[in-house]
Amino acid sequence: MSAEILLEAKEVIAGYTPGVNILNNCSLTLHRGEIIGIIGPNGAGKSTLLKAIFGLLSVQSGSITHCGESIVGKLAHELVERGIGYVPQRDNVFPSLTIMENLEMGIYLKPTQFRERADFVENMFPRLGERRTQRAGSLSGGERQMLAMGRALMMNPEVLLLDEPSAGLSPVLQDQVFVRIREINKAGVSVVMVEQNARRCLQICSRGYVLDQGTNAYADTGDKLLHDPKVIELYLGTLAS
Ligand SMILES: Nc1ncnc2c1ncn2[C@@H]1O[C@H](COP(=O)(O)OP(=O)(O)OP(=O)(O)O)[C@@H](O)[C@H]1O
Ligand SMILES: [Mg+2]
Repeated sequence: MSAEILLEAKEVIAGYTPGVNILNNCSLTLHRGEIIGIIGPNGAGKSTLLKAIFGLLSVQSGSITHCGESIVGKLAHELVERGIGYVPQRDNVFPSLTIMENLEMGIYLKPTQFRERADFVENMFPRLGERRTQRAGSLSGGERQMLAMGRALMMNPEVLLLDEPSAGLSPVLQDQVFVRIREINKAGVSVVMVEQNARRCLQICSRGYVLDQGTNAYADTGDKLLHDPKVIELYLGTLAS
């Protein structure tokens, strides 16, 4: 693939406490326009990898670049200003704030663009527009997940890091989330997605990475991973399909 490299992590070693490395030589590449998936067993380090990219833990060695420039040590708001959005696995909305207030929080760095971006987000997720004044804490799991993505989309990111966007949702709602992610991608946002729903994730990804014990176990196109007997035996059989 010759498309421009947006994000690149190379041989990253990182952890939460000194001397305990969770990521051991972990690498990934995101080209402009792609959706890439990260799958793997619980505790493999998938969330940790996204956190390392988003500057939320210190990197011991290796490199993480955005458009060829190192982003190691940058603060979250600097990354957001560079066009990188992150939706964490948990606690990804402000429950006591309304939908609108959550969306405002998403664009506090550029408040004058609020209306234009809110229109985009409400167009993508009409449900959020219908329930503008409802507190996020009273939303269903699916609505909350959409709000979390909507909030990250307020800054018009070029890269979106999504940690388990379909977790805890019914199969129908999971499908809706995957459809939305494709639409977000078609609107010009490149996506890195961590997913427990490995099969569904690989179906919509151009490329996927299987992480195991903090390192890359397999990396290939989504389609090849879906049909690789070893990947099926080791990772797809035991994960939700
Ligand atoms: N804040 C933290 N402090 C210390 N250790 C942590 C912290 N968060 C995660 N870990 C440890 O790092 C390892 C990888 O966790 P991580 O959350 O990245 O896994 P994961 O692949 O996202 O798993 P899951 O599929 O369950 O979300 C685990 O052993 C976990 O206990
Ligand atoms: Mg996780």
